[in-house]
Amino acid sequence: MEKQHYSIAIDGPGGAGKSTIARRAAAELGFVYVDTGAIYRAVACAALSRGIDPSDEAAVSALLPSLQLELRWTEDGVQHVWLNGADISAQLRTPEVSTAASRVSALPVVRQFLLEQQRVVARTHDVIMDGRDIGTVVLPDADVKIFLSASPEVRARRRWLELQEKGTPDTFEGESVLADLIARDERDSNRAIAPLRPADDAVLLDTSGMTLQESIDAILKLIRKKVTV
Ligand code: DC
Repeated sequence: MEKQHYSIAIDGPGGAGKSTIARRAAAELGFVYVDTGAIYRAVACAALSRGIDPSDEAAVSALLPSLQLELRWTEDGVQHVWLNGADISAQLRTPEVSTAASRVSALPVVRQFLLEQQRVVARTHDVIMDGRDIGTVVLPDADVKIFLSASPEVRARRRWLELQEKGTPDTFEGESVLADLIARDERDSNRAIAPLRPADDAVLLDTSGMTLQESIDAILKLIRKKVTV
């Protein structure tokens, strides 16, 4: 019989710290960390590089069959996204790609295209998977579901610091980080398909007043209540 794997779903809005927290918790548990936002970003990147409007369903749909997406992990558990044989991870974090990813992710054809790819990873590895619809749609039977949030101001500040660390141009003002984040929350929460919302059986965790380490510890505690590793 096929070995059963553990799956942990972490959903929440952008900038809630999901990726850092999930990656560190996965490393602690020896699980694979899967950042599903990165594959929506990869589709967005492909659309932008071909001059396709990320909201144009027909054009994006026509693009999908030519996309060969692959996830790989470095020794220390960092996920890389390969598109048609090239590692495009370094191109995925710009504000332009963030907005385009939010737009392509509202298209049912894109969600359908990426659904099985996400499920295959969870079937074959112990995973902590982060996204918007992991607990509700992708892995409805996940062993633990966590919905991670923080106030928009706290999230914008964290995102801004992250962008600063990566040396994103100075012109990217703190205020526009907040406005972009709120616009993306709106779009991700109000789309018709797989909107951002907590699963009925998710544990809600607000990290606004927590340090990174406190958030990681809180997540690990929730996971270890249900999962013995
Ligand atoms: O997590 P992120 O910021 O990298 O995600 C980028 C966009 O992708 C986000 O605005 C919404 C979309 N997304 C999604 O719809 N479903 C997911 N499971 C993950 C991301």
